Amino acid sequence: MRAMMVTELRCEYLKNPMGLTVSRPRLGWKLLTDRRNALQTAYRIQVAAEDETFAEENLVWDSGRLESDESAHVEYAGEELKSVTRYVYRVRVWDDQGEESPWSDSAYWETGLLNAAEWRARWITPAADKVDPAAKEAFYLRREFETDGKKVRRATLLATALGLYELELDGRRVGDSLFTPGWTSYDHRLQVQAYDVTDRLAGAGEDRHVLGAALADGWYKGRLGWEGRSAIYGDRRGLLLQLHIRYDDGTEGIVATDESWRATANGPIRMSGIYEGETYDASFELPGWSERGFDDSGWHPAETLDRSMDTLIGEQSERVKVTETIRPVSVISTPAGETVLDLGQNMVGRMVFTVNMPAGTKLTLHHAEVLDREGNFYAGNLRTARQEVTYLCRGGGAETYRPSFTFQGFRYVRLTGFPEPIDPDDFAGEVIHTDMRPTGFFECSDPRINRLQRNIVWGQRGNFLDIPTDCPQRDERLGWTGDAQVFIRTAAFNYGVAPFFAKWLKDLAAEQLPSGGVPFVVPDILDEGSHSSAAWGDAAVICPWTIYQCYGDKRILEEQYGSMTGWVEYIRSQGDSELLWNTGFHFGDWLGLDAKENSYVGATPRDLICTAFFAYSTSLVAKTAAVLGREEDAAKYEELHGRIVRAFADEFITPSGRLAGHTQTSHVLALMFGLAEGETRKRLADTLAEYVRAEGMHLTTGFVGTPYLCHVLSENGHHDVAVQLVLQEEYPSWLYSVKQGATTIWEHWDGIKPDGSFWSDDMNSYNHYAYGAVGDWLYRALAGLDTDENEPGCKRIVLRPKPDSGLTHARAQYDSVYGKTVSGWSKTADGAVTYEFELPPNTTARVRLPDAANKKMRIDERDPAEVLAAPPTREEDGSVTFELGSGRYTVKVGEKRP
Ligand code: BGC
Repeated sequence: MRAMMVTELRCEYLKNPMGLTVSRPRLGWKLLTDRRNALQTAYRIQVAAEDETFAEENLVWDSGRLESDESAHVEYAGEELKSVTRYVYRVRVWDDQGEESPWSDSAYWETGLLNAAEWRARWITPAADKVDPAAKEAFYLRREFETDGKKVRRATLLATALGLYELELDGRRVGDSLFTPGWTSYDHRLQVQAYDVTDRLAGAGEDRHVLGAALADGWYKGRLGWEGRSAIYGDRRGLLLQLHIRYDDGTEGIVATDESWRATANGPIRMSGIYEGETYDASFELPGWSERGFDDSGWHPAETLDRSMDTLIGEQSERVKVTETIRPVSVISTPAGETVLDLGQNMVGRMVFTVNMPAGTKLTLHHAEVLDREGNFYAGNLRTARQEVTYLCRGGGAETYRPSFTFQGFRYVRLTGFPEPIDPDDFAGEVIHTDMRPTGFFECSDPRINRLQRNIVWGQRGNFLDIPTDCPQRDERLGWTGDAQVFIRTAAFNYGVAPFFAKWLKDLAAEQLPSGGVPFVVPDILDEGSHSSAAWGDAAVICPWTIYQCYGDKRILEEQYGSMTGWVEYIRSQGDSELLWNTGFHFGDWLGLDAKENSYVGATPRDLICTAFFAYSTSLVAKTAAVLGREEDAAKYEELHGRIVRAFADEFITPSGRLAGHTQTSHVLALMFGLAEGETRKRLADTLAEYVRAEGMHLTTGFVGTPYLCHVLSENGHHDVAVQLVLQEEYPSWLYSVKQGATTIWEHWDGIKPDGSFWSDDMNSYNHYAYGAVGDWLYRALAGLDTDENEPGCKRIVLRPKPDSGLTHARAQYDSVYGKTVSGWSKTADGAVTYEFELPPNTTARVRLPDAANKKMRIDERDPAEVLAAPPTREEDGSVTFELGSGRYTVKVGEKRP
């Protein structure tokens, strides 16, 4: 018998993270074996400080053998961690047959500064009497330092900024992350990045080095929001940097920002803004500015800024990076006589290009998402965002440029000043987003649905740039809570989003009002009073609960618990009665198609939406309290939940089962949130199906109803209607935009009308992920890859495929924290269905196959009894259920039994 192998060690979900400031990081691993039904029964972890050999004297934790099947979130429980230290760890396990695995390869995490008092660096910025703090130009700061002729063993650079920074060391960029230090609720939380620069110092063969930093306004000081506000967090950019050098002789040196740094604003980036774009004048370049011997006599001293170190935190999510490069598919000459590149994909990031033009030649790129009906470049939907990149050439040879501190949402790029004819090979689009781990793949027999799935993924890539944004192009790009809440479950299938949302939810909690109210956007940059809409504020509860469901992460529930209860208590303090929420401003069923002419708000009564979400959030808080062992709270919120449900029924449901909200969304919410049972539930579901039919198999739902619409139909006896909605290609529908050539999800069902005209200029994003929430139905309902609410985190899987879905095959593959999980089906002409299932070691599944009770079933060409531990159960509804352990299975359900 071959033992299991332990692979893919992760700390806080990340591979070898740097600069962690978590005191008890969680470790996880995956298991490999070719044996079926494999489980872990015990583990042992060793952690050594700064030592790959795990020598006894360097061990800070040896867990010893611990009987446990936990392999995803094991809390470090060793000695107290020290700052700026590398902790190397390895894992071995025992399986259900008592076999012991070999030790895994080692992995590590490194700590940042765990104590604010350990910062020796000062915040610096160019002296205000020499460099105007309001200058639009990027600032450049530099300083030379020496390593005293000693051999460097480890060098770690810690850095952050007020604004955005990029670092150079001896003339070369440090790391490849973009938009550092990321966007957080800066007044409460500011991330510090850590970079390993050991090789750069140890391998240089030189004692003298130079650190350089470029600093731009970014989210901190630049323009944000449609109201045109800027300097929201502060009116001075700043840099904070501390380099820890550990020498072979055991001594340590620190290089830090202080008044000895030199600064200038006289560099090539003349202007940079998130919405604006960037202007780069190569004649201002500072050759060698971050190298030894550069003459910085024309630069100015830096001065220090007074700012507390208490808000500094280690990085909490993956970094933002270039994840793909796309070549233009064509060069268009528009009817208006303009030259426009088509990237073939609506994307988010930046253009990189190479030119060879005389010095001073001005080149401009304008970015936009769509062409208008006539085929002309159209930027009306950007509102006041400019998305304009200007480059002034150096001259004298080929030069390549890509902007640093701005991003654009675009498929089309209008070129001005470039030499004709344009060679598309001189251009490329660099796709930029948080570098999350791709985890989910969905594919089926209908190419239109596959395109929809790709559009959903692109919507996520475009809008997960450090925070979950509504859109990436116009003068918003903000962390709209409602949008995030609507999309999170789908997001968690496509990519690993646990760190991404854990970070953002801490910002949400930090920005929450003392009353428990939740800002419309997080980080909050809107006016006072912009908070607490139903379905938006509920992100405070729904998002942590979803992360718990998808990853089994209890810590997020612990950390967000105050925020979650705060939100529910806020709602409770609102309405005229304690149980109905019928006051305040709400976005309602935003963009619902049953809205009155010229309104954005769908017809579903707002108090119905509010009270439904009140019930739902309360139920999730009650469950959360139970998970956390807070029995008293659990009882309290369960009781409250029961009363809200009754109040909802009294107010909105007639005794015979009609709902006081004659809209699709009203019915969706009542069904989804369990606000009706028994006959009433059935009647509501039938009415909903009726409403869809009455619209000619179309939806009328907006942000609030759309994500759950297909789920409630499928779950309540109307799967056929859900299928028809998803396969509908006439407006309004998901496939309508696909048919119109969309490569991302639109904000409006009719972003581009059938006649090619636009819905409006005013609020018309072509990259808004909210309606992409149907992705969740594709893989959970249609392909049938689901989790078990009572045993979350994919340790326990629910496989319940739906082959009666108008397709010939569908398959979802998900790389959970345990490993590869698959649910797929394909149908043959004779009506037989072949299912494909795969479960990673240390997980189990409950399988439910519809319409199988009276049919022949084979597993891997064998009698099920030979493969399964317990025989399958024939259920009343004609389905068959059984249990599966880890491994790969092919299940055939064939012709009727004789
Ligand atoms: C955003 C939305 C957001 C909404 C609030 C819009 O401007 O783009 O997606 O949720 O405002 O209703």
